[in-house]
This record gives sequence, structure tokens and C-alpha cells, in this order.
Amino acid sequence: MNNRIIVNFKAYRNALGDRSEELVKSFSEVYKEIDGEVIVAPSSFDTFRTAGNGIKIYSQHVGPLKPGSHTGHSVAEAVEATGASGSLINHSERRMDSESIEDAVSRCEELGLETVVCAQTVEEVEEYSSFRPDFIAFEPPELIGGDTAVSQAEPEMIREAVESTADGVETLTGAGIKSAEDVSKSIELGCSGVLVASGIVKSDNPAETLEKMCEGL
Ligand code: G3P
Repeated sequence: MNNRIIVNFKAYRNALGDRSEELVKSFSEVYKEIDGEVIVAPSSFDTFRTAGNGIKIYSQHVGPLKPGSHTGHSVAEAVEATGASGSLINHSERRMDSESIEDAVSRCEELGLETVVCAQTVEEVEEYSSFRPDFIAFEPPELIGGDTAVSQAEPEMIREAVESTADGVETLTGAGIKSAEDVSKSIELGCSGVLVASGIVKSDNPAETLEKMCEGL
């Protein structure tokens, strides 16, 4: 099974606009040398410009609506049209209600878009993985953006999240991931990858940091 690192660019200033494309191109150089998969989730306004550089692109959000008279909404067809391969859904910083999560997963499935549904608790892992996304990502919100990796702070919770994940859905984890050791520990606990934001995007050399972290895949 291929393990993966999903790099969430969030809305970090050094990962917006032209900088997002520069970062993805620098990652594609790293990508040639590593085992495993690298996926990038840039700002929604940058999915179009970052696709087609040899790195899989996900949207940071997609909603449940079908195309129509909706202002300011992200529909699956628009994500697909940017060249993105999938989307994060229900990230801690972009929460949705349970019905919308289920509908967004279905909409993506209709179009062949991959889905990563984010969950804050083991109970949410159990509920949301039943909607059969491709991945469920366990991310305790209190650890996001911090210096303590979820794999160090909550190893037992990660194990429980893996055990609570519906059959056929792969478990990821994220929050505070900063090193190859954090990555390999997450995989030892049963995850098939991690989500990382600040540890890579806010580092002095994101491509170099990514390459080092990939040693843990
Ligand atoms: O999507 C992953 C993100 O929420 C984790 O953030 O900065 O703790 O790696 P960070």
C-alpha cells in the first residue's frame, strides 16, 4: 500500500498565488526521488495554477451542492474543472454538518474525485468513515499548528481511530507533524499517511523539509 503525505497550504502567505506554483514545482523535483505519494492542497484560488506539475492536487474544501445559482460555493464540478484530483472535506478550519459531509463525499464520488474527510474525534472517525470517503483524517484540533505531533501526544487515540475506521477506508492523521519520525510513528500506528501544514509550509526550505519527512513513509 502506498503511503502519502498531504501538504495543506492553508492560506499561508508564502503559499498563495505565484508562490503556490513555485512551491509545487519545487516539490515535484523531490517527488521523483521518494517512495510514497505527495499530494498538495493549495488555496482554492490556486488549484488551477498548481495542477499539471506532476503532483496530485486536492481542493481544501468542497460543498454538497450541485451546479446552479449558488454564490461563493465550491461545487465538485468546479474542483474537477481546475484539474484537481480530489478534495479535503470538513477540515477543522472549515467544518460542515454531517449531512453536508455525506453529500459532498457522494458528489465527489459521482465525478471520480478522491475524498479526505477530516475528523476531530474517534467518534467522528467512526461516523464519517461510514460515508465511505477514500480517506478519513484524524486531527485533534488542539494540536493543529502546534509543536507536539499527534503521533507523540495521542498514539492510543490514533490506534483507536484506525480501529474505528470503516472497512475499505484508509486512515490518515495530522496535527503538529514535524519530522520523519512523526511520519513513521503514524504509519506504525496503522495510518497510511499524514496531513502536514506548518511543519513544511512555514519551514525555511519547504521542499527540503518535505524530502526529509518523506523518509518516514
Ligand atoms: O490539514 C493538516 C493541518 O490541519 C495540520 O496542521 O500545521 O499542525 O501541520 P499543522
